[in-house]
Amino acid sequence: MTASVTDAVAAVDYDHFVTEPDGSTLPQSSSISSIQQMLEALDVRPGHHVLEIGTGSGYTTGLLANLVGAAGLVRSVEVFADLVPRAQTRLAAAGVTTATVTNNDGYAGDPARAPYDRVVAWATPHLIPSAWIDQIAQDAVIVAPVKVARLARAHAIVTITVTGGRQMAVSARPGGYIEMHPEPVTVFGLPLRYVDAAHVPDGAEPWWLSSPALREDPDAARRLLELLRSAPGSSPAPLAETEDLEDFTAWLYATVPAELATAGLSDRFAAIGAATQTGAAFLTDDELVTSGSPDAARVLTAWINQWRDEGRPGWSTVAGVVVPTAEGWGIRLTLQPANLGEGVEAMTQ
Ligand SMILES: C[S@@+](CC[C@H](N)C(=O)[O-])C[C@H]1O[C@@H](n2cnc3c(N)ncnc32)[C@H](O)[C@@H]1O
Repeated sequence: MTASVTDAVAAVDYDHFVTEPDGSTLPQSSSISSIQQMLEALDVRPGHHVLEIGTGSGYTTGLLANLVGAAGLVRSVEVFADLVPRAQTRLAAAGVTTATVTNNDGYAGDPARAPYDRVVAWATPHLIPSAWIDQIAQDAVIVAPVKVARLARAHAIVTITVTGGRQMAVSARPGGYIEMHPEPVTVFGLPLRYVDAAHVPDGAEPWWLSSPALREDPDAARRLLELLRSAPGSSPAPLAETEDLEDFTAWLYATVPAELATAGLSDRFAAIGAATQTGAAFLTDDELVTSGSPDAARVLTAWINQWRDEGRPGWSTVAGVVVPTAEGWGIRLTLQPANLGEGVEAMTQ
């Protein structure tokens, strides 16, 4: 950790921001270690103008205000109206005068004080919204969780470096935050985007299926989810103990993002694998869950074999690629040549 992020963490009182009057912790709080990693990547300097999306408790707003110092400013946007006065009050009580919190949908950014030298998000958009891109300075860094496929729960935390208004370097690491939502969320446990079939029982975790390949055929997606719910076969996970499911997942995102499927399997939570018209095969941390015809299991086995043949590449060898769209920058992952190794950033455009 750099001295500045460590100093900011030492100077800003976490409990002051996250603790509720009854002693509980505000649910919208993030873990300090994950915050620290993202702030390291953001590389905030004194005097910077920073746009923050997802104020939550206001703790990260306080850290950012500490990092930009008296000559900088922080504009923070929070969609959940009740959290805005809460954060404002606590920031004021902590002596913060350079941060402003507004109630809005973070997809719109905050044009009032653009351009920004840094943009950081604590909620996951489906792409980097064009408003953020329009609001950055010629030289800027964006650090945000973002979708890396049109697939529920497929996300990474990316660091995008913009130089001279154009050139982009994108690095990616595993991680994610709650999905960005324009309104308060009422159903928990169900992803907000890219769910193709869902079953939400009362008082239990939901079942859901996300499959770009079945997206045009909602009946097939529903039938497959029904099969999974009614007859889920279970066998031990096919990955060896030394093989990392997170790394295999990174490889899948980079290699077969359109063929891949994800699922919520009630109390088994999220899983990743293959879905066909008639069969499903999903990996959890310790199981292979299958249903219907064996074609999906064959697809998944072929992917595992290909990943092994390629030397089991994972997060240390993927980078992000920007895919420009009318709504903003879509982010996809790509495999780096093996000899470039960890920490190397891919140049795009
Ligand atoms: C993980 S919490 C933020 C944690 C915060 N950084 C902290 O230290 O407490 C994510 C926040 O993003 C907010 N959020 C979700 N969708 C949003 C949107 N579209 N615009 C702005 N904020 C959003 C949520 O209401 C929530 O407060």
